[in-house]
Amino acid sequence: MRKIYVAGNWKMNKTKTDAVAFALELKSKIEPFEKTEIVICPSFVALAPVADILQETRAGVGAQNVHWEVSGAFTGEVSAEMIESAGCQYVIIGHSERRQYFGETDENVNKKIKRVLQTCCLSPIVCVGETLEQRESGKMKEVVETQIKNGLAGLSTAQMERIIIAYEPVWAIGTGVTATPEQAEEVHGFIRELLSTIFDETIAENTSILYGGSVKPDNIESLLKQNNIDGGLIGGASLKVDSFVQMIEIAEKMGN
Ligand code: PGA
Repeated sequence: MRKIYVAGNWKMNKTKTDAVAFALELKSKIEPFEKTEIVICPSFVALAPVADILQETRAGVGAQNVHWEVSGAFTGEVSAEMIESAGCQYVIIGHSERRQYFGETDENVNKKIKRVLQTCCLSPIVCVGETLEQRESGKMKEVVETQIKNGLAGLSTAQMERIIIAYEPVWAIGTGVTATPEQAEEVHGFIRELLSTIFDETIAENTSILYGGSVKPDNIESLLKQNNIDGGLIGGASLKVDSFVQMIEIAEKMGN
């Protein structure tokens, strides 16, 4: 049975004070939940205080980026060990905003994943997705296939057990335009087939594939109803405790 995630990607939002206030409120509201995997990904400066608050709850904490080296002269970068020592369990890798604005390539994504897998317990949330232009020119599957194949190159099946994938069509991120459940499901099914070809049937069956791109309380149910959608990676709608908790409630009610 695959795990279902409601994961918040805060991007460059919230000061440490705002993040702490959110975490305290979230902690008070998530006690009834038993099934959904809850994750929030604050900025680096808020990771440790947020992780401290959520330590004994079912909510995990993730970073939004990581460097592929262990340590050294890489001014401004943050290592996997640092993230783990802040109390995190997850790290987002290869988000489209990092690919688009910061030159992240599939090769970097691959190096980052491999580095993160050297830690004891961090799980990479690996993002893939096509731009509107790529979709309209019929290259959607080709693009996603390349990102998956190159991003996950060289991983063993044992390493794959720690990976979570997020399909985030670039044209749906922060635009208010969500992929329809059918559009998302088509790509999720395709990614699962790819995992079965590259790894094996068990990995394909057990890997959680999240959808991201304008997910909100109004549309999360129809997305989660799809066979191959195992949760959401949520930006804008994760910034308010109420809408974030509403989405967890919906995931719980759906009996996942
Ligand atoms: P959005 O962002 O929910 O604001 O579209 C999702 C993401 O980029 O992870």
